Amino acid sequence: MNTANAWRADFPALSQEINGQPLTYLDSAASAQQPQAVIDAVARYQREDHANVHRGVHTLSHRATDLYEGARDKLAKFINAGSRSELVLTSGTTESINLVAQSYCRPLLQLGDQVLITWLEHHSNIVPWQLVCEQTGAELIVAPINDDGDVLLDELFDLMGERVRMLAIGHVSNALGTVNPLDKIIQQAREKGIPVLVDGAQGVPHMPVDVAALDCDFYAFSGHKMFGPTGTGVLWGREALLEQMPPYKGGGDMILEVSFDNTVFNELPYKFEAGTPNISGTIGLGAAVDYLQNIGMQRIHEHESALHSYMVEKLSAVDGIRRVGQATSQASVQSFMLDDIHPHDLGTILDHQGVAIRTGHHCAMPVMQSFGLPGTARASLGLYNQPEDVDRLVAALEKAKQIFA
Ligand code: ALA
Repeated sequence: MNTANAWRADFPALSQEINGQPLTYLDSAASAQQPQAVIDAVARYQREDHANVHRGVHTLSHRATDLYEGARDKLAKFINAGSRSELVLTSGTTESINLVAQSYCRPLLQLGDQVLITWLEHHSNIVPWQLVCEQTGAELIVAPINDDGDVLLDELFDLMGERVRMLAIGHVSNALGTVNPLDKIIQQAREKGIPVLVDGAQGVPHMPVDVAALDCDFYAFSGHKMFGPTGTGVLWGREALLEQMPPYKGGGDMILEVSFDNTVFNELPYKFEAGTPNISGTIGLGAAVDYLQNIGMQRIHEHESALHSYMVEKLSAVDGIRRVGQATSQASVQSFMLDDIHPHDLGTILDHQGVAIRTGHHCAMPVMQSFGLPGTARASLGLYNQPEDVDRLVAALEKAKQIFA
């Protein structure tokens, strides 16, 4: 068995048939499948260790707390955070970005200030900034992209003016697969004193991520795209910034002391974690980190890069395919159109052949608007995919062409 086959065998969902065909799962950008190790960790916790965290003196509460906080430690190490205090557990990338918009930016922004994003962003890296701009009188400004799906760097740098209080940018575009040159972009922002938030939802599952080396200020990502459970995620932030930010939500666990006159908030990271958290999901996410680290993120990155090149080569050879997004550097994702077949029709025909792709605007309507399209078909890779998956995709596309001819 080759390496990728061995990894694939770890994911029970991938061994099933869909519509009488072996499942070809090419929708990991929407949500990745979970390995047995994650499923087992969640089940074991539910079966044997469940209790609330941080609250009980009894054995089960200690066990649950140790497993939950152990997952935080694993995540902190996984992205090379300076300390576990910088690792806020959230429900996902969306909540992480909203937290920064409301807790860091809202108290800071004044009429005429600016928040800078790009045309490549997912809705969750657009709408939270629109909301905070409306609340404060600040302006949302947007750096353009070219026809390949690369951010125009000169324009982006020109937009980094003295009223910009935040640059929020994706690591990897979920719609086009563009890998942004974060090193250059963050260096420019640093020189201009602009804090940077990176939406890492599509970065963390596919490549090594080191927040210290990136030198950003905030990095947000989701558990379910990195082979963990849904409803889990992370906001990493520089400790000095997190310290100065007020809580985002109020409730239990984020306090040290409460009276009707005053509340003393808990220390980092707990002041941002009100209420009973997603304990089982986070424990599963810790198991996903173990799984990824056992393989090694560099190996995963190399495997997926080679497979992405293969996918591009094979798709490009299909008569009638238009690749939407041909950026200088791409990871995991390829959007495309086939002749004039509507993407939803194409997705349905492919599903009949056991091939799962995403179709539509991919929660990135401005990207689609920039290409003059309502949506695209999108194939996205995970560590478990192999050349055979791409071959099946191409065979299914050929069949779709015959059906629509
Ligand atoms: N953000 C997810 C995607 O790109 C849902 O499909």
